[in-house]
Amino acid sequence: MPQIALHSSAQEAAQVVARHISDLIRTRSAMGKHLVLGLATGSTPLPLYAELVRLHREEGLSFKKVITFNLDEYEGLDGSQPQSYRYYMNEHLFNRIDIPLPQTHIPDGKSANLEQTCAAYEAAIQQAGGLDLQILGIGSTGHIGFNEPPSARDSRTRRVHLDAKTRQDNAIFFKQPGDVPHGAITMGVATILEAREIALLALGPNKAAIIKRALTEKPHALCPATWLQEHPACTFHLDAASSSLV
Ligand code: F6R
Repeated sequence: MPQIALHSSAQEAAQVVARHISDLIRTRSAMGKHLVLGLATGSTPLPLYAELVRLHREEGLSFKKVITFNLDEYEGLDGSQPQSYRYYMNEHLFNRIDIPLPQTHIPDGKSANLEQTCAAYEAAIQQAGGLDLQILGIGSTGHIGFNEPPSARDSRTRRVHLDAKTRQDNAIFFKQPGDVPHGAITMGVATILEAREIALLALGPNKAAIIKRALTEKPHALCPATWLQEHPACTFHLDAASSSLV
């Protein structure tokens, strides 16, 4: 079962997770190794990225020995489009720290050969040595990454159709609701569960109902976040509001 870390605010959650990432980077660097970090987008990790930028600027934390893999990308968008996850990551994190951009990976939403792109993404994660720590948010459908219901335990990086509810939730990031893409590329449930450690962030009252489902329903494809119950080193970082129903 996931461990629960209860925080007094989103800022405190961000500080705790950022400090953990910083410790992992330093431990790995001391061994001459890279840290392989899985990253998420959306509203939830923004304070975390702001805190990592602060640690870089004020405490000299270097990301030169970090390799990143993002969970997902919208189909049809490339990094020049502000709604793409590549643009988001460059803007909020990568361009503000010292990570070499070739060490950052995000699925190519404009690939002409999606099957090959997905297989290559899985291979690149393996080649990097696997994910040391995966950061996750959670969607109101129970998705992790863009693994919408139903998503099997053994699913891998693939093209998915976004749930109508997810398109509605994410419309705030687009000019018009109709602009939200219908498809995306996402790491699969199995890809995520193979990370050596997982940190899921869910903060505020809007996450309470889905956090209850994720922690109390038996693992099943119709609520993909329930698969996290099977991970041996997964922590849910919550606050009073998001944990109010568990
Ligand atoms: C983003 C992602 C999604 C989000 C989820 C929550 O890369 O994979 O699973 O983490 O949709 O989004 P927010 O944080 O905006 O509520």
